[in-house]
Amino acid sequence: MILPIYVYGSEVLREVAEEVDVENADKEELRKYIDDMFETMKHADGVGLAAPQVGDSRRILVVDGNDIADVYPYLKGFRRAMINPEVLEESDETADYSEGCLSVPDIHCNVVRPKKIKVRYYDADLNVVEEELDEFACRMVQHEMDHLDGHLFVDRVAPIRRKMIAAKLHNIAKGKARTTYKTRLER
Ligand code: NI
Repeated sequence: MILPIYVYGSEVLREVAEEVDVENADKEELRKYIDDMFETMKHADGVGLAAPQVGDSRRILVVDGNDIADVYPYLKGFRRAMINPEVLEESDETADYSEGCLSVPDIHCNVVRPKKIKVRYYDADLNVVEEELDEFACRMVQHEMDHLDGHLFVDRVAPIRRKMIAAKLHNIAKGKARTTYKTRLER
């Protein structure tokens, strides 16, 4: 099922999402929900989606790099669902990539983040996974993890760039964003 995507200005994007109670989780519900997140992300031509973006304040994210593997070949096969992800380590070395976000349509900005991280999370079958991520895979996951803490990539751009996009952001928050996918704005 394709879910509407909440856009900039929506309250849920600013909330700190709650951990999934893995011990008592309904596995079937979770798996179905994660399928819906992947479907919603694909439909919107995205490479990542966090549950708060579909109005659900739980610590769940999905990423899929297969569609951009022509640009970043090492992303071939990089498709993950992460429940309650946490960063165990991050590199001092940083990388600068252009980011966009389905909740912030038509805006792309460079953001500096750690180049490598080590994460721990539960996968869709509730197995604990530890994984080291580098380059754009690392970037995708860091962007989505930000959503779980109520942060958006536009919070992290340089002040001058932020000034340049202020009017666009204002329009999105007014409900004037144009997208090919269904959106929702809820304060
Ligand atoms: Ni995003």
